[in-house]
Amino acid sequence: VAARTPLIAGNWKMNLDHLQSIAFVQKLAWTLEDKKHDFSDVEVAVFPPFTDLRSVQTLVAGDKLPLKFGGQDLSAHDAGAYTGEISGAFLAALDSAYVIIGHSERRQYHGETDELVAAKVAAAHRHGIVPIICVGETAEDLEQHGPSAVPVAQLRTALEGVVAGKEIVVAYEPVWAIGSGQAATSAQAQQVCEALRALIAEVLGDDAAAATRILYGGSVKANNIAGFLKEPDVDGALVGGASLQLEEFASIVRFKS
Ligand code: G3P
Repeated sequence: VAARTPLIAGNWKMNLDHLQSIAFVQKLAWTLEDKKHDFSDVEVAVFPPFTDLRSVQTLVAGDKLPLKFGGQDLSAHDAGAYTGEISGAFLAALDSAYVIIGHSERRQYHGETDELVAAKVAAAHRHGIVPIICVGETAEDLEQHGPSAVPVAQLRTALEGVVAGKEIVVAYEPVWAIGSGQAATSAQAQQVCEALRALIAEVLGDDAAAATRILYGGSVKANNIAGFLKEPDVDGALVGGASLQLEEFASIVRFKS
């Protein structure tokens, strides 16, 4: 089995303007440096609002920070008359390594369907950006269909957008655990992540399944991260609220110590 470097991703959602983003990233770098954090065994990425990306890119490049970043969404289209949209080309031009696609808040508040998610995955791949494909069930889905059915169905459609051979990351975020303080247990996360990996094996093959990182998201904190990362099919975390708290996020990144 190929080694999967854990990925700790901070989704800032609609928080921190471009000036605040500079201050935050600088302080995060200092905090981690201060604590002699070794970045060789964990990858860290932040997902600021679009208006911050240029500032974050300049800072990361200028100070050679071992930090990746990306957008919280992108357009399924490459260019044209799509008012308000941001293309994969724009994100790629700012050195975005990743882009979050199909977050449950996009699905819930912007009507994003599994088909649109698949089209956005294809758009990310056209521009050389690794999509972080978000899936997850609501409390109602869980009650009606059990733990894995909805996330697996969502991912099955999303995988239709994957360009063969290109990297993806999957984030399992149960909607009931997001921002609720009620994280899934590590065993619950493992159960669904295992089912998602089995689906990737079925659709993209065993090598892709072994190489793909599957993250857990939903009320991840410094005091529960290590438990998730001990599970064989959980390869990192997509962190919301705690990614805006400097010390908390730094502790999550340093989950091994
Ligand atoms: O994308 C991350 C997110 O939805 C989880 O949010 O605040 O529960 O960590 P939170």
